[in-house]
Amino acid sequence: MQTINVDLERAQFFDDLSDRWDTSGPSPDAKEVLTFLKKLKIDSGKTVLDVGTGTGMLIPHIFSFDPGNVIALDLAERMLEKLHKKYAPRFGSKLEISQQDVHKLDIDDATVDIIICNGVYPHFHDKPLALSQLRRVLKTGGTLAINHFAGREFVNKVHGSSAHPLIRQDLLDPVTILKETIACSGFSLKEWRDDATEYYLIAEKS
Ligand SMILES: C[S@@+](CC[C@H](N)C(=O)[O-])C[C@H]1O[C@@H](n2cnc3c(N)ncnc32)[C@H](O)[C@@H]1O
Repeated sequence: MQTINVDLERAQFFDDLSDRWDTSGPSPDAKEVLTFLKKLKIDSGKTVLDVGTGTGMLIPHIFSFDPGNVIALDLAERMLEKLHKKYAPRFGSKLEISQQDVHKLDIDDATVDIIICNGVYPHFHDKPLALSQLRRVLKTGGTLAINHFAGREFVNKVHGSSAHPLIRQDLLDPVTILKETIACSGFSLKEWRDDATEYYLIAEKS
């Protein structure tokens, strides 16, 4: 596992949650996850970057589309240890597990086809910087997806009631604001939703 600069406070927060992450809170069913992933047109040969992968909730679902390889990236070492235990033996060299901060990615320019940020975007403390890093590593025509398997109100209620002062500030903007941020960061908007049960935005590097 590779280790470089990390947002230490949020890394600690998620490390402390790692033992109970897989059993706490509502998680989406497989049908819901696959419906979302189908929109991203993952297929063989594609490189998929799962930013803020956590314990790898999406990993087996991403592999069901037979991608070339998957980079499972997260700040929190202990979340990645869980992921490693569950999935490294199953997916072997097609799964790269990497401890990194999205704000300072150690990934070559234009090498990734699809970037997924599931349940992580509000935790980026400098969104323009994070988005510029994501744009840099994405190939032209590549896809960026920001997703929550829950509505914005629910996400903001959970974050807003956190005992951790930083997490309390990690709130999701209405998608109308997110659209502006993403467009200003050099992406073309493709599809979005912001309702009681879903929040997502899919964009392309033009
Ligand atoms: C709410 S969890 C979501 C985990 C997973 N995507 C899921 O849906 O189960 C957010 C994850 O993002 C990671 N994270 C937060 N800020 C990050 C950053 N700046 N760079 C990389 N990962 C980050 C956290 O460590 C945590 O594991």
